[in-house]
Amino acid sequence: MEKRYLRLGVNIDHVATIRNARGGQHPDPVRAARAAAAAGADGITAHLREDRRHMTDEDVARLSAGIDLPLNLEMAATDEMLAIALRHAPHAACIVPEKRQERTTEGGLDALGGHNHLAPFVRQLNAGNIRVSLFVEPDMAQLDAAKSLGAPVVELHTGAFCEAEGAEQDRQFERIVQAAEYAESLGIECHAGHGFTFETVAPVAAIPTIVELNIGHFLIGEAIFGGLESSIKRMRSLMDKARSEAYGERSA
Ligand code: PXP
Repeated sequence: MEKRYLRLGVNIDHVATIRNARGGQHPDPVRAARAAAAAGADGITAHLREDRRHMTDEDVARLSAGIDLPLNLEMAATDEMLAIALRHAPHAACIVPEKRQERTTEGGLDALGGHNHLAPFVRQLNAGNIRVSLFVEPDMAQLDAAKSLGAPVVELHTGAFCEAEGAEQDRQFERIVQAAEYAESLGIECHAGHGFTFETVAPVAAIPTIVELNIGHFLIGEAIFGGLESSIKRMRSLMDKARSEAYGERSA
């Protein structure tokens, strides 16, 4: 089988969370994005939330203009976010569900139940040459809905897998494997993200039908202990090792 490269998208939302704890400019998400690029990230992800709890409109403008890596803008399906996405034309937009009270994106989008609401967003982002991805649970009905919506990409929510243990973790892993294979059979590019750590990343990185992982909170947390570049390099190397082993290659 031809080996497929596994991209790493680094989510830098929580650099902005730390900055916002004091106001001002430090630490700067654009500087973090450049450090991530130097450490081997393939893309930068930023979630502009309705309540602007971490990323701000200015951050999105500066990231769009000031970094060399492709920008993946996470956004809710609202008219406000659509206008912002179309204005900045990031490489990609990942549509996520958003609830005001949640600490993080707790579950996947209901692409099936929300089909009629989502359709104009997917259509307008596609028309703006922004690569649309839908953040969904690893569930076949959600993938069918993504296909019928015309989304070229899905991102599978890996939170349940990362939080589970033992037999339940095996069951959650199997759901991800099946969903990733099904996405491929539908001609949809498959990404995955949420909750990854140095401990949980390898099994998912080894799934050959997954071509991108988006990782944020853990990397920014680890950066406190060893620096951002070091945490990203370690994650990158765990991903590469798992990928090489899946293809039966000896890794360095
Ligand atoms: N992918 C999506 C769509 C997300 O919403 C998030 C969290 O913002 C992530 C990936 C990254 O999750 P984590 O911060 O747990 O690594």
